[in-house]
Amino acid sequence: MFIQQFRYSTDNLGYLVYSTREGIAIDAGDVEAVLVFAEKNHIDIKYITNTHSHYDHTSGNEELLKKTTAEFIDCRKIKSDQTLPLDHEILEVFHTPGHTEDSVTFKANDFLVTGDTLFNGTIGNCFSGDLNAFFQSLKRLISLSKNTKVYGGHDYVIDSMKMAKIIEKENPYIEEYLKKYNFGLIVSTLDDELKANPYVRFNVPSMINNLKERNLPIDTEFDRFNSIMEIY
Ligand SMILES: [Fe+2]
Repeated sequence: MFIQQFRYSTDNLGYLVYSTREGIAIDAGDVEAVLVFAEKNHIDIKYITNTHSHYDHTSGNEELLKKTTAEFIDCRKIKSDQTLPLDHEILEVFHTPGHTEDSVTFKANDFLVTGDTLFNGTIGNCFSGDLNAFFQSLKRLISLSKNTKVYGGHDYVIDSMKMAKIIEKENPYIEEYLKKYNFGLIVSTLDDELKANPYVRFNVPSMINNLKERNLPIDTEFDRFNSIMEIY
């Protein structure tokens, strides 16, 4: 399975995930760019969908549906895990509520399309209000193989690392993470996230110490996750 990233608006990131011939457009805000890429690479757009139903992610749906014969998959109707066939391969869809109730994550063999659940360097806002569901969704994602690549829904890398530095001044990996920043392709691995993204570091000893020094609750994983979210 392959993936192409399309930057649009200021910091939105959309994707075309494809196999030999068939593809799925995810958050295709820049319709023209997606169509040009698909045509040039002989990709038949079989599905159009979104990581969640916020308008900055769904804005291209209507136009793309008009210009292709693709089937629309409404992420609001995805309540449990699903699979989507692309040629002879399978794309997995995980229901990962938290940022919104309808947030989903797409998983191919070696990469994830995480929308506004997990960003490169930070996590989304918990607009659903269900912090426990959000925590479970994030835990599921970071439990996958560490070399899995992460493709998020926005490029917030620079600001995220500023925040990471406020939370963990001593973390040497923040500078390394910033060195890898490439405006033209926003991607990291789960390993990078576990080293630099403070919000998924709730089980890392140096982070636990940090929280202890700040007199924040550390008894359970969820306490620590919550505590990290409270630092600003
Ligand atoms: Fe969003």
